[in-house]
Amino acid sequence: MKKLVFATNNNHKIKEMKAILSGSFEILSLSDINCFEEIAETSDTLAGNAEQKANWIKDNFQVDCFADDTGLEVEYLGGAPGVYSARYAGENVSYSDNNEKLLKNLQSATNRKAAFKTVICLKLDGETYFFYGEVQGKIIEENRGTSGFGYDPIFIPEGYNLTFAELGDSIKNEISHRAKATKKLIEFLSSRNEPSDL
Ligand code: IMP
Repeated sequence: MKKLVFATNNNHKIKEMKAILSGSFEILSLSDINCFEEIAETSDTLAGNAEQKANWIKDNFQVDCFADDTGLEVEYLGGAPGVYSARYAGENVSYSDNNEKLLKNLQSATNRKAAFKTVICLKLDGETYFFYGEVQGKIIEENRGTSGFGYDPIFIPEGYNLTFAELGDSIKNEISHRAKATKKLIEFLSSRNEPSDL
């Protein structure tokens, strides 16, 4: 099976991506290629961060790869936390610290609309490509559910009554922002018919 490096240290994302791409590609993590760096994400856009991570791996390991960046945009907060979703409550905080801060900032909000947005940057044969995915939904008032990660326990996708954390991996991996961006990545790779060999 063809191999592609996914430039992330997030085991949840690797697991999701392996499930989504199973049968199409063998996904290698950074630890699989002996990369243990904390790759910088200093851009103020999702696409900029995804490209920064993918470029770093391409430059340092000379492999074809892809990286993603995701943000949760909350309408009432003017799009925050957005590109700063990982450190909404500060540097080195836990997922529950971020969720707690978000729930607090939405305490008096009646408009609780939100969207997860993912950008994937692919570096293949010297070219750069971007793929987008988003899912609309809303932020509820308390944590519900135990699967997934990050803001999953407080986000209900449109058309459902359960949070991503209650819906579980198999449904999330069908409908999520990352799944949509990844499907576009797969279609692109399949159409090229010559995916990356390490
Ligand atoms: P990253 O920079 O792409 O790792 O994502 C930034 C932050 O967004 C993460 O630290 C999580 O808090 C959150 N996040 C990313 N993807 C998801 C998801 O699928 N569900 C819930 N939260 C997510």
